[in-house]
Amino acid sequence: MRQVQVNLPGREYTILIGSGLARLPGAKAWNALVAGRRCLLVADSHVEKLYGPAFQEILAAAGAAAVTTAVFPAGEESKTLATFGELCREAARAGLDRKGLAVAVGGGVTGDLTGFLAASWMRGIDFIQVPTTLLAMVDSSVGGKTGVDLPEGKNLVGAFHQPRLVWCELDTLKTLPDREWRCGLAEIVKYGVILDAPLFARLEGHTLATLQAEPETVAEIVARCCEIKAQIVLADERETTGLRAVLNYGHTFGHALETCSGYGRFNHGEAVAIGMGMAADLAAVLGRCPAELPARQDALLRQLGLPVCAETTAEVTPETILELMFRDKKTAGGKLRLILPREIGTVEIMSVEDRGALLRAIGGRTHGNTGESRGADRP
Ligand code: NAD
Ligand code: GLY
Repeated sequence: MRQVQVNLPGREYTILIGSGLARLPGAKAWNALVAGRRCLLVADSHVEKLYGPAFQEILAAAGAAAVTTAVFPAGEESKTLATFGELCREAARAGLDRKGLAVAVGGGVTGDLTGFLAASWMRGIDFIQVPTTLLAMVDSSVGGKTGVDLPEGKNLVGAFHQPRLVWCELDTLKTLPDREWRCGLAEIVKYGVILDAPLFARLEGHTLATLQAEPETVAEIVARCCEIKAQIVLADERETTGLRAVLNYGHTFGHALETCSGYGRFNHGEAVAIGMGMAADLAAVLGRCPAELPARQDALLRQLGLPVCAETTAEVTPETILELMFRDKKTAGGKLRLILPREIGTVEIMSVEDRGALLRAIGGRTHGNTGESRGADRP
């Protein structure tokens, strides 16, 4: 089993990464947190069917005073104020008091919703993240960003609230659909581009199938991404110095793409993959990175089965995407602050005002039906 520490003063926590963790010594930390507490286990409708009963048992075996499961319909469309409200009412019905514990079992949607519930319920209770998607293991379960989307924009309402423990149970990846694996790989490519050229090069030697056949490699990569994320969060927990902002590479474009398509067409990781393409093209157009960088990044993303372009529709147009980007949280004083690659492994934060260059970068990756877009092919 691997462990990564997030050493935020007074709010330290451990990320456990391994298989069959309930049987391993790391479970002691879990037992210590759970014993004697009323627990609200939150899962989406897919994950509850797969893992709800197992985690109810694990919580009961760890000595929980009571376990109530709250289920919401799977999908980004559920990451709303309405679902948050429903979860609050579930917490009330479950009799969760200030010592209550929320336990998120699922992907990033479940983690973000449950974390926001934990940040708000009785002005803040403890919560545990049990990420069951690759994306949630390498990114969303760590670092304390929680919240929900609005029709007007993604993640616009939320709070910083760190979990008390993160348990990456790699066995859960056995049931993860390939499309969701790929979304996690998009965030892993992101870590490579922003900070870790050897990780990027390592991924270039793989496809989805070869990674799935090498659980040890997957465990190493998950641990490496958690280490990177832990270091960044330690240095800039609330994204005030700009250090944490590098994690948003591709995200300002990607979030706009998710929002204008109504959150149902592109999965988050797919939108981030396309967004990274737009950011790399912009950096190349502005002369901030080697001209061949976008093609190298595209080649890796394609090899991993990710989209690098989106099909335009009445809602998804370069102009709409740009408009929504200006509403993003990362906008400062009306200027877009974007994370752009300098080379693989290094990025910079730039204020970009050149609307023409932005529209060219976005337009270069939003086409009529080119056969490139995966977002339209939702299974
Ligand atoms: P998700 O939570 O919707 O999960 C994707 C799908 O996989 C869902 O249908 C889910 O039911 C299913 N699933 C989950 N685990 C499974 C398993 N083990 N087996 C089978 N099916 C399983 O989406 P996601 O991609 O995990 O997360 C995306 C969300 O995370 C977005 O809302 C994004 O904004 C957020 N995010 C947050 C942060 C952060 O720092 N808080 C970082 C990155 C992304
Ligand atoms: N995924 C962006 C962040 O955690 O800051």
